[in-house]
This record gives sequence, structure tokens and C-alpha cells, in this order.
Amino acid sequence: GKGEYEHYMLKEISEQPTALGRSVSGRTDSARGEVTLDGFPPGAFDGIERVHLVAMGTSYHAAMYTESLLARRGVPARAYMSSEYAGSPPPEEDGTLVIAISQSGETADTIAAVRAARAERTMVATNVVGSSLTRECDDTLLVRAGPEIGVAATKSFSSQVATLSLLSERIRRDVIGEPSPDAEEFLSALTDLPDHVRQVVESDAAERVADAFADSESYFFIGRGPGHAVALEGALKFKEITYEHAEGFTAAELKHGPLALVTEETPVFAVFNGGADDTETLGNATEIRARGGPVVAVASGETPDLEETADRVLSVPSTHPELVGVLANVQLQLVAYHAAKRRGRSIDKPRNLAKSVTV
Ligand code: F6R
Repeated sequence: GKGEYEHYMLKEISEQPTALGRSVSGRTDSARGEVTLDGFPPGAFDGIERVHLVAMGTSYHAAMYTESLLARRGVPARAYMSSEYAGSPPPEEDGTLVIAISQSGETADTIAAVRAARAERTMVATNVVGSSLTRECDDTLLVRAGPEIGVAATKSFSSQVATLSLLSERIRRDVIGEPSPDAEEFLSALTDLPDHVRQVVESDAAERVADAFADSESYFFIGRGPGHAVALEGALKFKEITYEHAEGFTAAELKHGPLALVTEETPVFAVFNGGADDTETLGNATEIRARGGPVVAVASGETPDLEETADRVLSVPSTHPELVGVLANVQLQLVAYHAAKRRGRSIDKPRNLAKSVTV
């Protein structure tokens, strides 16, 4: 049951430290920069040359996040919406690994993508033991988020990203022959992630931001790299449960069109990774403010000059730049939740949506 919580969604947001602990525990040796995943011992990915990630909705955003983790590790990777992949699967090439990502393991579009794939191997990262995709794929990697009841996916996204972070490092070792140069820092940041998420969940900053922008016309979300995936996910969560217009963009895309939509009535949530690319996103935020758009920065203490560039800051603990996005996403889950609650929406069962899309 929901216990002390008013909604399953809030319960599941609050459970993320525990869920993430389960996703990561026993799977790392950060002092040695090693990942140990059951069923994927060293050498398990020998011969793999590229990765295709297939998924829908929130899981597709986890796929985009993973695409950027793999690319930064020198492993060619591309995220596809399952339906598009099923419609025109890339040509057969030796060395292609298809990774399906699905909380439920029952999403019809993703099953179709795996069936259409002309790949050497298929695997699924799923939350549900024994689900259809575990039978369709050669291998299964369990995400271990625990049962998710709310229609809006929350803890499953965080646990997918954590699990696929481990997998990305494991694949990198086999494909490139050595760990990432910063594997120790990355794995130790993953181990600290539950604690960092707890700090975000315990803050009330997101609720105050949801209140401050309760009467806006549209809500925009921008970011780059992992922050782009989080921007799209932030917008999806917001539109699903508030029924307000929300859209996510890569930060650079704005001036190629969407900037025409920006006014005082359109707050823009800017996701910062806490790394070298922050400077460019700060530039984009400045362009938005110059058009009167309120900027809410979602950022760690690593990002400079936020006082001058943002109207409000949703801060998250400092961590490895590839994991700040997970923390930023929790802030955006909370913003969507409080915005929907203010509007009296049916948070756990939004109109027109089903938890698992099997047709
Ligand atoms: C969004 C949401 C959906 C699912 C999508 C894929 O909150 O829940 O977008 O993410 O239908 O579902 P799974 O992950 O079960 O394949």
C-alpha cells in the first residue's frame, strides 16, 4: 500500500535511495574500478562493436542517457524509439548488441523492436523477472527498482540509469580493453548516489518552484548530453500528470526555432551536468532570459555563475558529471508531482494512460 504517502508516485519518488541501493549493491568494487554483473563476466561482450538501445517513453530517455554514457566510453551507441526500430531496423552487421530497456518487460513496441532486430545478440534491462522481454532476448539484466505502481515511471528511471551505468562500464572494458580513466570516481559516485538522492527528496525546493510557476502557459526543459535525456524526461513527467503543455529540447536547439515560443509565461528548466558543457548551457539560459523567459537552473555546486543567470536554482549535491542528471531528474519528478497536486490531478492514474502499453 501507499502507507503514509498520499500517492504511490510520491512513495516511489521517496523510495529511490533504497531502490538505487539495490540496483548498485554487490555490483561494484569501486576501489579497483571493477563492475561485477551476474551473467556478464569479463569477456562477456568480446566481439561487440556497437550498441543499439531500444525503448519507449521514460525508458527511451534512459536509453538516451545510456547512449551518452557509452559514447563517452568510446563505445558506438545509438538510442532508438522501439517503434521506429521495428519499422526500419538497421541492416545486419556482425558485432551489434541490441539492448531493450523496459520497466514492465511487456511493452509491445519494444517486443516488436527486438523481434525485428538483425543483431548478433539481444538483451533486456528490465524491472520484472520472467516478463515477456526476458523470454524474447538472449540475456537479461535486472534493474531491481522494486514494484512500481504509479503510472508515471519514477524510481524505475533512476534504477535503469544506475544499472545501465554499470553495464556501460562493463561493456567498455571488453570493447576497449581497459576501464574508463575515471572508473574509480564514477563507481564511487554511483555508490554514493542513494545518499545524494535522499538529500534531494528531503528538500522542499521543488514544491516552492511548482508553486511559483503555477499559472504559466507552457513549461520548457533543456539540457545537453545526459541533461538532454533528463530534459525530455522532465517534460514527459510534467505533461503526463499535470496535463499542462511541456516540451523538452536539447539546449542548442532553442535558437533554431523553439526560442520563438519563449515569453514571460514560459518558465524554462535548464539541466546542468556540472562539467565542461555547462558554459554553453549558461549561454543558452542567458538567451532565454534576454527574451523574458524565467530560468530555473537544476544544478550542482560545480556549476558557476548561477546567481547571475538563473531566476531560481534547484540544487543537487555535487557528484560525477555523468550522474548529476539522475539527481536533477529527481528534482524534476518532484516539481511535476507538486504541480499536479496543486491542480488536483489524478496523479497515480493520469487520464488516457496505462501503466503498461501492451498493444
Ligand atoms: C512514463 C511512462 C511510459 C513508459 C513507457 C515504456 O511515465 O511510464 O512512458 O515509460 O510506456 O514502458 P516500459 O518501460 O514498461 O517498457
